[in-house]
Amino acid sequence: MPISHGQNHTVLITGGAGFIGSHVVRKMVMAYPGYLIVNLDKLTYAGNLENLKDVENYPNYRFIKGDIADGYFINDLFSNWNFDGVIHLAAESHVDRSIEEPLEFVKTNVLGTVNLLNASIQNWKKNYERKRFYHISTDEVYGSLGDTGFFSEKTSYKPNSPYSASKASSDHFVRSYGETYGLPYVISNCSNNYGPYQFPEKLIPLFINNIIQNKPLPVYGNGKNTRDWLFVEDHANAIDLVYHKGINKESYNIGGFNERQNIDLVKLLCSLMDKRLFRNEGESEKLITFVKDRPGHDLRYAIDATKINKKLGWKSSVTLEEGLEMTIDWYLANDDWLNHVNSGEYQDYYKMRYKQ
Ligand code: NAD
Ligand code: TYD
Repeated sequence: MPISHGQNHTVLITGGAGFIGSHVVRKMVMAYPGYLIVNLDKLTYAGNLENLKDVENYPNYRFIKGDIADGYFINDLFSNWNFDGVIHLAAESHVDRSIEEPLEFVKTNVLGTVNLLNASIQNWKKNYERKRFYHISTDEVYGSLGDTGFFSEKTSYKPNSPYSASKASSDHFVRSYGETYGLPYVISNCSNNYGPYQFPEKLIPLFINNIIQNKPLPVYGNGKNTRDWLFVEDHANAIDLVYHKGINKESYNIGGFNERQNIDLVKLLCSLMDKRLFRNEGESEKLITFVKDRPGHDLRYAIDATKINKKLGWKSSVTLEEGLEMTIDWYLANDDWLNHVNSGEYQDYYKMRYKQ
């Protein structure tokens, strides 16, 4: 079990209204009633406070709307709150968008991270006892694998998309603040996540949403690109563990040894959806259309998660099939959430809840 820092421990979680961030916020708010969890989020298209309805009234939770790319705002925030720890998830996270507008990725993922690092060292003033900066990163920084092999923590960085280049850059900045200013930090690099509350632009929720609406399922290229899938709650548990027990200046790869070629994953999803929607077997598969490949599309990701397993005792708890079933059930049971995302209504929730 993770070690708790006890009472009076204030943690800043950035990007807590996003997909993974909302699971981390929920986990921390519930598991550590003695902590104060401050969720800072800009509420871009990807931020959705409806993700956190079930914990928004907890006494140890606060929400602040703000942009990590605004250095003045971030400095003020840190001097007002005296954070003990930072779990940094805020990012532009979608590869396709990074191809269209790379500068947004530089602003949030690089500049935003450096603003948080600066504010941390200025506020902590070398008094680093019980302080920690935890950067949540991705396996995409390592680039692409061929047909065999795994990414380990020792694999060199070779990012291929503007998204992964911005994440690699921010990882390097975090590391450099450890070396140059002594900032206590940990980094984790995780494989593709899926599960409840994921915005329907990423493969799995997009395809669930399209299957429900009988819309085409656009598979890029020949569908043989391979991703290593992890259920989001397993990632949130790993983040909790690394935050509390990770060794200073180390990085941890997080993954569930769950590789699938995209086309196989999509066919599995179609077949599970047919069952859930009482459609004839094979009906959803007819929606698959092969479309032009993504430029610079990485062929294969696969994480070697041995270190986090051996050193911290973490491993994933569900198989891909189990996780997909839970995910599909969640999307079908939470049609309000999905309808609000599809209509854009989710973006009114902040005003409704916090600005009356
Ligand atoms: P997401 O896109 O669902 O959420 C990102 C959140 O960050 C949103 O709530 C958004 O409003 C917020 N945000 C964006 N720009 C901001 C800014 N300038 N200031 C403050 N908040 C801002 O992303 P996600 O999938 O939950 O990913 C979270 C983190 O995990 C990211 O750092 C991502 O790189 C990393 N990661 C994601 C995956 C994955 O499969 N989704 C895998 C490994 C690592
Ligand atoms: P995605 O969910 O965008 O995650 P990432 O690019 O960060 O791995 O995509 C997962 C895989 O699915 C990736 O190989 C691209 C592919 N893909 C499609 O084939 N069609 C789509 O519409 C999307 C969004 C992704």
